[in-house]
Amino acid sequence: MFSEQTKIGINGSIKIPGDKSISHRSIIIPSIASGICEVSNILKSDDVLRTMNAFIEMGVEIKEENKKIIINGKGLDALTKPKNELYLGNSGTSARLLTGLLASQKFETVLTGDKSLSSRPMKRITKPLIEMGAKIEDQNGKLPLRIKGAILNNCKTQIDIPSAQIKSGLILAALNTEGISCIKEKHVTRNHTEIMLETFGADISTKKFGNSSEIIINGKKELTPKNIDVPSDLSSSSFFIVAALINKNSNVTLKNININPTRNGLLIALERMGANIKIFNQKNRAGEIVADINVKSSELNGCELDEKMAKLMIDEFPILSIAASQANSPSYFNGLDELRVKESDRLELINNNLNRCGCYSKIKNNDLFINPIKNKQIINSEIRTDFDHRIAMSFAVLGSKIGKLHINESNSINTSFPSFKEQFNRAGGNLT
Ligand code: S3P
Repeated sequence: MFSEQTKIGINGSIKIPGDKSISHRSIIIPSIASGICEVSNILKSDDVLRTMNAFIEMGVEIKEENKKIIINGKGLDALTKPKNELYLGNSGTSARLLTGLLASQKFETVLTGDKSLSSRPMKRITKPLIEMGAKIEDQNGKLPLRIKGAILNNCKTQIDIPSAQIKSGLILAALNTEGISCIKEKHVTRNHTEIMLETFGADISTKKFGNSSEIIINGKKELTPKNIDVPSDLSSSSFFIVAALINKNSNVTLKNININPTRNGLLIALERMGANIKIFNQKNRAGEIVADINVKSSELNGCELDEKMAKLMIDEFPILSIAASQANSPSYFNGLDELRVKESDRLELINNNLNRCGCYSKIKNNDLFINPIKNKQIINSEIRTDFDHRIAMSFAVLGSKIGKLHINESNSINTSFPSFKEQFNRAGGNLT
């Protein structure tokens, strides 16, 4: 894909698709509830369809009617053995959450994935599950995973790696395990699993202690289905937010965006950089906070972010780095270790691609320094994405400002935002 400069800025009222994290959970949790649940505004991207297919393979009736997904949940312990291995494509969320869920089912499953997912670390989820009594074989800590269902013991686990996928996998294991489990996370991460389970009547509670939290689950309580309206995705919105900020004559409004405080670091960071962002019509929808966001072209300053902020916006560093590359002063982002084990080594790719675009950036001890390249024109730089959707969309946004960029392997965008190109062009972008 090529991204060229916008001539008119980025404008309009943009309907961002459903949140990816909440969409995965809107299939997983209803599938193990007892009865029928209707889900509106689910994201139909490659990753979410992998989760959906996995549950269909495990005997859950899932159909689409009047733009809603109808799921007939089978209960906590009643999934059935799939005929084949479950192929999860590029989706880390499917892999980590399903590993936790399947560890306590009554059958054996094998989870596989594409090249990128097969190179990502799985010990982080299998190790605490094995401590609960799970029987899981891996390949040097990676996929494929062979999970032999077992009756688990309740757990008392501390998670040191900041990861909502690990936490959610363990919560799903604890739900189908007799007794009280206690999961402590050293750093608070996105809490969509906890919020949705509460609305489904699970016996779950969370206590917060500064930056840490403790989740208590009393297992084996049947889940009661609730209809879900998936809010729009802040991570997908972020590409339009930054495109509007860095391009002159821009003004966009994004509606019904999930601004859950465990995940809204990007908005805080951009406000610190001087962004003209207004958040309004804030509502609580089944425990999730949603709001409308208006963004106008802004003169941005650089900023320094500590490692605590990294936990609250882990997926948004590629696009925040694009904003930083167009600011008036340098930026320092600290504690980006986890970026190395995402769909690609994102830290390396951000740095490498910014340098290819004539910007000075540098990595030191997993911290990133960016010296902006304001007002520089770049023609025909090749952007390496390693099939990473967020790298592809972030550099598409940079192209809208600085000139023609050639973004390799941009089909990966279907992982999270299949309509990105069409919607970006409708707003004034120039993607071909
Ligand atoms: C996700 C958690 C995060 C995030 C990913 C989605 C989730 O991953 O990067 O895109 O839905 O739980 P980690 O758990 O690896 O931080």
